[in-house]
Amino acid sequence: QRKAFIEGTKGILPPFNTDPGRLEDLAHEKLSAGGWFYASSNAGSSLTHRANREAFYRYKILPRMLRETNTRDTTTELFGHKISAPIMFAPVGINKIYHPTGELSVAKVAGELNLPYCLSTAGSQSIEDVAAVNGNGPRFYQLYMPHDDELTISLLTRAHQSGFDVCMMTLDTWQLAWRHDDVATANYAFYYGIGAELGLSDPIFQKRLKEWGIDPKKDPQAAGRRWIDNVWHGKAHTWDRIPWVRDQWQKISGGRPFLLKGIQTVDDAKKALEYGCDGIVVSNHAGRQVDGAIGSLDALAEICKELGSTPNFTILFDSGVRSASDIFKAIALGAKAVMTGRLWIWGLSIQGEFGVRHVMKSLLADFDILMNVAGYPTIKDIDRKALKWMPYGS
Ligand code: FNR
Repeated sequence: QRKAFIEGTKGILPPFNTDPGRLEDLAHEKLSAGGWFYASSNAGSSLTHRANREAFYRYKILPRMLRETNTRDTTTELFGHKISAPIMFAPVGINKIYHPTGELSVAKVAGELNLPYCLSTAGSQSIEDVAAVNGNGPRFYQLYMPHDDELTISLLTRAHQSGFDVCMMTLDTWQLAWRHDDVATANYAFYYGIGAELGLSDPIFQKRLKEWGIDPKKDPQAAGRRWIDNVWHGKAHTWDRIPWVRDQWQKISGGRPFLLKGIQTVDDAKKALEYGCDGIVVSNHAGRQVDGAIGSLDALAEICKELGSTPNFTILFDSGVRSASDIFKAIALGAKAVMTGRLWIWGLSIQGEFGVRHVMKSLLADFDILMNVAGYPTIKDIDRKALKWMPYGS
């Protein structure tokens, strides 16, 4: 991290400013209108997006002085993987919208940095190609569960065979919410041609296309549309489906972890535990699904208070993270690791692989420096006592 300062004194400037506001502006300049709307749109009037940020403002870090931080350690263990820091790449669909290399650039950087990469079912590259560039990095697979069991099994099998060893099923987005910009511009049609590779490369989905009489070579738009309709199918799943999908994953993977993503209440977190899940992701999809909902960090605080010390039940967190101090706060409240989405999306949009690397290396450096200056030398030292909750505006 000192490299940035030393280079700065020699007049060597970083490629771009990683302040989150600047990142977003730069990405806006680079992206097509469709790409920008997809990445930036939130549910309704962005109230949940705002609540996510406001929740971070109310928790304040308590800096400690004269502690031994010269030999600090940002590493942690997650599901048997020793990772560089408790930071993960959140699953994000259709990465080719941001840059032609899409998921391949992101997974490559995640592997290099030894941070877990989570591939979305709405990926615009195949599971196998993503695994090939990710190297030895820890890989998670995010499942949007179709209403086609044979297809679900095929996706999980491909993920396992490609070394994705944690399954994260997303619960909050079986249908896209009302996002004004997307709706106003009919942006959904734009996804069909871009967001389908993960599906089009699936043998069971190829069989389905044949049954429907669709040739993806002749009519890629129709094939893509079928895949997208299959991912965001509009038909809610219910808790009674969880044992089936969890069992499938455990059979296929030899008992590797199964997580539920999108949990926002203590009751649902308890249900996840009751239904035999190995953990949850406290997330509200970056505020893109339910408008006017609780900030995700506030949900995390409540859930960790009740379930934080449950053995073999891992709590991950995302939604609204924009800096190292946000990650610190989520860890202090009890998250085992924190996922980030929009930060690396902006990096990818600005400068492809190079941009993702610059954003994520800067975040790692920021986190390491924060642990140093705030007096918390290891991840275990970052606990609830590191924070003070203060009313808004203080
Ligand atoms: C997402 N997210 C998401 N989640 C998921 O499970 N599958 C997906 O395909 C996507 N796609 C997606 C696209 C875009 C453009 C965004 C912004 C988000 C949600 C994502 O995994 C994560 O929950 C949030 O992005 C975290 O919030 P921040 O870090 O973006 O504020």
